[in-house]
Amino acid sequence: MRNYLLLVLVSVVVLGAAACTAKQADQGQGAPEFRTTATIKDIMDSMVDPGSDVIWDSVETVVSAKGTEEKMPRTDEEWKNVRNHAVMLLEATNLLQMPGRHVAKPGEKADDPKVELAPEQIETLINQDRASWIKFAHGLHDATMESFKAIENKDVEGLLNSGDGIDKACENCHLKYWYPNEAKNLQQQETK
Ligand code: HEC
Repeated sequence: MRNYLLLVLVSVVVLGAAACTAKQADQGQGAPEFRTTATIKDIMDSMVDPGSDVIWDSVETVVSAKGTEEKMPRTDEEWKNVRNHAVMLLEATNLLQMPGRHVAKPGEKADDPKVELAPEQIETLINQDRASWIKFAHGLHDATMESFKAIENKDVEGLLNSGDGIDKACENCHLKYWYPNEAKNLQQQETK
């Protein structure tokens, strides 16, 4: 009888532990509960564009009536500011990949329909082949990492040189989804 009781007790403990692990696994692997309120257009305007602008403008030569000024982050505060913007740009690339995020608000039209695809067309392209979309988002992430590393090392030259890679990552994705006809024109010009 005592043995039987012990067995019952042991199985209660074991079962309880198993239930606990199952619950934890469930929480870890359950469907994400993202609320994808902002559109891709919003993320471009509020995070991607301002983030990259701060990086591009952080090192430059400004020529004015007062003479030539070499602009670069110098104080800890200035480095922190450019770092914050690099973080914003890095993480924006994750936001772009979230499933269920729309390209634009319903009814929003392309600014220049002759050149740009309509938001619905862009969305169809993305959903047809999400792996490519993710590849372009990673392209921007990895290009921004070059700036981020330079910032962590307070490497002004590296920061300046990393800007080009970010520019290319923007353009690669835009040529595929936003204004693909432009890409065709460019190709035609090259083969002429
Ligand atoms: C993963 C793809 C992707 C990458 C990378 C990307 N963009 Fe975009 N971007 C888009 C798409 C798609 C649109 C078109 C959305 C729309 O405006 O309807 C767009 C639109 C924009 C717009 C116009 C927003 C508006 O109000 O119409 C700006 C500005 C912009 N991108 C800036 C940038 C900059 C700067 C970078 C690089 C630092 C960048 N994008 C990188 C996909 C991308």
